[in-house]
Amino acid sequence: MEEQRPVVIQGAMEVETQHIIEQMTEVREEPFGPFRCVRGLYEGRPLVISETQWGMANASALAALAIARYKPKAVISQGTAGAHDPSLDVYDIVLGARTANSSAWQSHYRAAGSGVDYRGLKKLGVFAWDERKQAFTQEVYHFGDAALLAAARQAAASYRHGRVVEGTITTCDSWNCEVDRIAFLREFYGSLAEEMEGDAVAQICQSFAVPFLAVRIISNSILRNQDPWDLGTGPACQDFVLALLRAYWQQDSGTGL
Ligand code: 5AD
Repeated sequence: MEEQRPVVIQGAMEVETQHIIEQMTEVREEPFGPFRCVRGLYEGRPLVISETQWGMANASALAALAIARYKPKAVISQGTAGAHDPSLDVYDIVLGARTANSSAWQSHYRAAGSGVDYRGLKKLGVFAWDERKQAFTQEVYHFGDAALLAAARQAAASYRHGRVVEGTITTCDSWNCEVDRIAFLREFYGSLAEEMEGDAVAQICQSFAVPFLAVRIISNSILRNQDPWDLGTGPACQDFVLALLRAYWQQDSGTGL
């Protein structure tokens, strides 16, 4: 059989990566400079785990490096997130049907001394390559890959720690704790949850035509007084991602891919 292309799984912290690594075989450390990157097999299929540390710049740089080195079949950004939707509980999972960069906006003009209004914004979006238009286009939303989403829906059927919902995840190098700000982001972008990596990776994956999905587990909700951060959610999210991968690879069986 032709050598299979790996799936790259990113997580920012050890608590978001180690649980998968422990279940892999033929594990090899293949770091990018100081950043941990591990290659191995899960149920005989090739997997690369990239530990990015927090934030958009780290995650997008490591996505580009992993795309160049591994030519992956897909990239998944997964890990913890904060709730923007008050109905979401800690351990619920949000599938990123779409992601948006919530720092990509332009404010309306206000004269000196007239104060600031973070609701007075126009969405800008970020530039990514649009294959159909053969141009870089400025887009507010990046959409999750249909095959990865289908696999995630299959994994949802056996997820026992909470609900699995689909919708918009917003990404920014910020951690919002103001309830009014969170309500604004929910209304402005339709955001269900926030984190610090997903859309930056989606942007890079779109430009290089690599299928992408953000999978995030709610680890804190200021809306339901579920702060601080429950890091026990990290391994639960990784178990969900492994179930997603099994379903994803199942899609290929019979095709020899
Ligand atoms: N806001 C922003 N990022 C969060 N993360 C978890 N909860 C939140 C939140 N409420 C994720 C980010 C980053 C680290 C802080 O955990 O993606 O990696």
